[in-house]
Amino acid sequence: MAERNNVQVTPVQIEEQRSWMAQVRDMKERPRTYHIVTYGCQMNAHDSEKLAGMLEEMGLQPAEAREEADFVLFNTCCVRDNAERRALGNVTWLKEVRKQRPNLMIGVCGCMVQEPGMAEKLMKQYRFVDLAFGTSNLYRFPELFARAIEQRRPLVDVEEEDSIAEGLPVRRLRRDAAYLTIMYGCDNFCSYCIVPYVRGRERSRRMEDILREAQGLKDSGVKEIMLLGQNVNSYGKGSGTDFPTLLREIDALGIERIRFMTSHPKDLSDELIQAMADCRHVLPQFHLPVQSGNNEILRQMNRQYTREVYLNRVRSLREAVPGIGLSTDIIVGYPGETEAQFEDTLSLVDEVGYDSAFTFIYSPRTGTRAAGLPGQIPGEISTARIQRLIALQEKRQRERMARFMDQTERVLVEGLSKRSDRQVSGKGEHGISITFTGDETDIGQIVSVRITGQKNNTLLGERIQLA
Ligand code: 5AD
Ligand code: SF4
Repeated sequence: MAERNNVQVTPVQIEEQRSWMAQVRDMKERPRTYHIVTYGCQMNAHDSEKLAGMLEEMGLQPAEAREEADFVLFNTCCVRDNAERRALGNVTWLKEVRKQRPNLMIGVCGCMVQEPGMAEKLMKQYRFVDLAFGTSNLYRFPELFARAIEQRRPLVDVEEEDSIAEGLPVRRLRRDAAYLTIMYGCDNFCSYCIVPYVRGRERSRRMEDILREAQGLKDSGVKEIMLLGQNVNSYGKGSGTDFPTLLREIDALGIERIRFMTSHPKDLSDELIQAMADCRHVLPQFHLPVQSGNNEILRQMNRQYTREVYLNRVRSLREAVPGIGLSTDIIVGYPGETEAQFEDTLSLVDEVGYDSAFTFIYSPRTGTRAAGLPGQIPGEISTARIQRLIALQEKRQRERMARFMDQTERVLVEGLSKRSDRQVSGKGEHGISITFTGDETDIGQIVSVRITGQKNNTLLGERIQLA
C-alpha cells in the first residue's frame, strides 16, 4: 500500500479553510439550505456534525427533509455491502428530485468514497453527483464546496492523507451528550475489515487538544462525553502517553459521565482496567468486540488474541468493576467457518452473558484479505447461524437484565419514548436503555430511577423522588 503522510494540519491551513468559508458565505448564488444523510458508526455521525458546523459557518441553514434542501450530502459507510447499497440507492433516488429542481446540489462523502476504485465509479456511473470527497480531507470541505459551486461540474477529491485538524466549527446534535474523537484510523488490518483502507493509519490527537475540547464541552453544560476512536486502547502509541493516562486526565475535569468506544481486546491492558475502576466518572460499561469464539477463526481474522485471552479480559473487567455492562460485535459466516467453529461462538456468548451484542453476517469487502478466500459461506447458512446466535443472545440478555431489578440506575434522558409521550427513555450507567414516566422537561437531565421490570431490550423503572 502507498505510504501516507501523518500530518497535523497547520493553523495556516485551517485559516485558509476559514477564508473559504467566508467566501462561500458572501457568494450571491449558493445553496441556502442543507441536509446531511449519515450512515454507519459514531465516527461518521460525528463527522457529520463537523460538516454541519462548516456548512452553517458558510451561511447555510439546516433543512428538515432532504427534498427541501438546496444541498444534500450523503456521508457514507462501506463496512458492509448493505450500507453501501443503501447509500447508492438513495443517491440515485435524489437524481429524480433534481429533475424538478435543477439547482439541487448533491454531495457524497465518507468511507465509501475513500474505497479503492469508488471515485472512478462515481465519476462514470453517478455523473449527477456534484461533489465527492473522502474521509481524510474532511477539513478541506469548505474549499471543495466553494470550488464545486463555482465550477458547476463534478468535483472529486479523494486525496489520501492521514491528517488531524483542530479548530474547525462543529454543530453538535445534542446539547447534553457529545462525541469527542481522540484518535483516527486503524493499523490492525483484521482480514475482513475495510476500515484501515478508508480511514488510514492510526494517529492520536494531542492530549492538550482533547482536554481543551473536553473542558469546553463541560463548560457548555454537556453531561456525557463519548470518546471515539477505531481502537481507543492504542491511543498515544509511540508518543509517550496512553489511553489510561488520558482517561484519568479527562476524569479529573469532572464531566459527569464518560464513555468510550471501540476497544480492541489485544490492547486492553491491566492499567486501563484499573483506570476504569478508579475513575469516578467513567461509566461501568465496556464495548469489547470478540468477532468469533473460535481460535482458528480468530487467527484467520488476524485478531491477535485467543478465546482464552478474551475470556480472561472479561473476568478481569468484572472483578475490577462488578456488574459492568458488556457489549460486543460478532461476525458469523466468515469464509470457511464450520458448524463446529460457529458453535464455539455460541458457547462463548453463553459463557460471557453480554448485555448487548451487534451481530453481523460476514460481507466480503473488495481489497481485504478475506474477500479472496475460498469457502465463502452461502447466504442461507449464514442467515440460519445468525438467527441462532440472536436467539441465544436475547435469552442471555434477558437473564442478565434481571440483575438490575430493584436497583437504582441514573438515566441520562434522551427523549420521549417511541411508544408514549408520557414516557421518557435514556441510557443508564451500564449502557442499557431505560424507560419511565416523564415529560419533555426531563430531556437532557440525569434522573435516578428504580428498576421495576423489563421489556424486550429495555428496562422499565420509576423515578425516585429525592427528599
Ligand atoms: N463483514 C461483516 N461485519 C463486519 N464488520 C467489520 N467488517 C465486516 C465485514 N466485512 C463488523 C465487525 C466490527 C463492526 C464495526 O462491524 O464486527 O466490529
Ligand atoms: Fe476493522 Fe479490526 Fe480496525 Fe476494528 S480493529 S476497525 S475490525 S481492522
